Amino acid sequence: MKLDLPRYTERFGAISLHGVQRVYELDSGFNEGRPASEAIRSVGNVEISEIERKMAIVIPIKGERLKLLEGVLSGIPHDCLTIIVSNSPRQPVDRFKLEKEALEQFNRFVGKNTLILHQKDPGLSDALKEVGYNSIFGPDDIVRNGKAEGMVIGMLLAKMAGKDYVGFIDADNYVPGAVNEYVKIFASGIAMSNTPYTMVRISWIYKPKVSESGLYFSKWGRVSEITNQYLNSLVSYYTGFETEVMRTGNSGEHCMSMKLAELLTYSSGFSVEPYEVVDILEEFGGILPTENQDAMDKGIEVMQVETRNPHFHEEKGEDHLKEMFNGSLGCIYHSKICPPRLRDKINEELRGREILQEGREPDMQRNIQSFKSVDIHQFAKILHDRAISFVHSN
Ligand code: GDD
Repeated sequence: MKLDLPRYTERFGAISLHGVQRVYELDSGFNEGRPASEAIRSVGNVEISEIERKMAIVIPIKGERLKLLEGVLSGIPHDCLTIIVSNSPRQPVDRFKLEKEALEQFNRFVGKNTLILHQKDPGLSDALKEVGYNSIFGPDDIVRNGKAEGMVIGMLLAKMAGKDYVGFIDADNYVPGAVNEYVKIFASGIAMSNTPYTMVRISWIYKPKVSESGLYFSKWGRVSEITNQYLNSLVSYYTGFETEVMRTGNSGEHCMSMKLAELLTYSSGFSVEPYEVVDILEEFGGILPTENQDAMDKGIEVMQVETRNPHFHEEKGEDHLKEMFNGSLGCIYHSKICPPRLRDKINEELRGREILQEGREPDMQRNIQSFKSVDIHQFAKILHDRAISFVHSN
């Protein structure tokens, strides 16, 4: 893959927030070759494959169409470990069973290393309880509903499998070729990074919408534009310079080195992606004290890479958008480093959109603790013994 070196970087404490980088060539061949310009890096196929072997791709899924899941599976490079964490209904139709069967059938032909697990499996809860990882439970002592909850379970499985990198791809993507590109971008970003603490976020070139006059290739999702604006304001309040650096506040498709992933705190449900950025700013921005001095010394890099493929996915309804607005802006509002002036602006924004009533505050999302200190061998042992939905194919 041939892509830009970061052209612009916002530095915030130990964090380097790189501006969006472009892809010039999806496949730049085996030869590392001589890039056409010093501003461009060519990441060869051998280097990409080596990183893919150390990477797990987590697919969180809840009741998506099987055809879409099958397409997503086919787009993930063979050497990555694929992990499906499902919260699909088991009744009246057992959707999880159908997902498992689809995965088994796929595997019969491709012979791929895969894991699948249901988020609500009581055996999974037993394993989590045993290692003291309790912040992910609902009142019934079972893992809560939520995409973030599924992602965190996926990260634990990736750590259990000894992977160094973990990426996320939604199950409702219509274009397997785009899925493939996301993973190549993840690997290229990691190859370019200068620290073991890295995050690579996907910036979609277009997010097309169906309109009366045909397809409209819009640049921004309805929520992401606003989330980015407030994340940028948060950075600007501290640096004193307005910035537009953050373009991927809501990006569901992103990856991290395990070294970074295990240090972060995660916010429930759909606030997970913007909160990753907020948590990085809180933890490594030099404003609040941190226990993670090694990461402070080595630095944290956040890369944002613009795809060549447009992002075609299932459009969910208005209520879902409101939930995303509330979660995304709410996690900035409740951040320990959010200045009062920004809080007022967020309140105004949410009231103007009739998402928040006068006198109310945005909902505070529940947090999921970092998993650095989880005894992963003990977790694995109990999971293997008790989680009946867990299947590992190799
Ligand atoms: N395991 C699990 N558990 N997966 C879930 C759950 C859950 O409770 N809820 C949703 N998912 C899965 C969906 O099946 C899908 O694969 C993925 O999470 C994203 O959910 P969608 O409902 O499709 O969200 P979206 O398309 O509106 O939003 C996506 O894109 C946004 C950026 O535009 C999400 O990835 C957002 O997090 C992201 O901000």
